[in-house]
Amino acid sequence: MPELTYPIETERLFLRPIELADASPIHAYHSLEAVAKYQFWDPRTLDDVMVEVQKWVASKQIDGEGELALAVALKTSGELIGDLFFKITDAAARQGTIGFSFNPMVQGQGYATEAAHALLELGFDTFGLHRVFARCDARNTASWRVMERLGMRREAHFREHAVFKGGWDEEFYYAVLEREWRRQGGRKIGRKA
Ligand SMILES: CC(C)(COP(=O)(O)OP(=O)(O)OC[C@H]1O[C@@H](n2cnc3c(N)ncnc32)[C@H](O)[C@@H]1OP(=O)(O)O)[C@@H](O)C(=O)NCCC(=O)NCCS
Repeated sequence: MPELTYPIETERLFLRPIELADASPIHAYHSLEAVAKYQFWDPRTLDDVMVEVQKWVASKQIDGEGELALAVALKTSGELIGDLFFKITDAAARQGTIGFSFNPMVQGQGYATEAAHALLELGFDTFGLHRVFARCDARNTASWRVMERLGMRREAHFREHAVFKGGWDEEFYYAVLEREWRRQGGRKIGRKA
């Protein structure tokens, strides 16, 4: 597996491993109902975030079917504005998945799209993946709009397939194959030229 060097740089952002000191800025938005609403967790206390951060600080490199947790910081100020998830789910079939959460204070400026684009580059260019997918609640319009901006296709709509936070779950799967990604030129949206 290739060794990653940090920070990963995009036009406006640095993507870097999460550190213990990041617990407070992550708590600032993981504590919000708006951020937790479609996640598998409820709004987090600082202690909850510390527990997660302690796991994430070890996720700097991937070996086989591992996962990365990355902080997203503004280049201009170093401020942490979001966090990312990247996981190789099947090394033999070269499948990976991505996820993202951003502070509502910075939403609507394309930062999530820019950061997720870097994750797709990581998947296809660095790790040689064949397919990258992401799942989201069908009501999470902001999330699936990010995926569509990146050229990911809606592959599945699971209807009432599970119970989620007390109601039926409606879930979308989005994905992009490496050849689709290359054909569309890696959708150069919000990234370094
Ligand atoms: C999902 C989430 C990360 C999306 O955040 P977002 O701010 O909507 O996404 P972006 O940062 O890419 O911003 C996109 C918006 O900025 C606009 N934008 C401005 N400048 C832009 C640029 N340079 N590039 C791309 N979009 C830009 C886009 O037009 C878009 O607006 P629109 O949705 O009105 O069309 C955010 O809603 C979130 O953190 N939600 C809570 C956690 C969550 O649910 N995560 C997903 C779990 S599956």
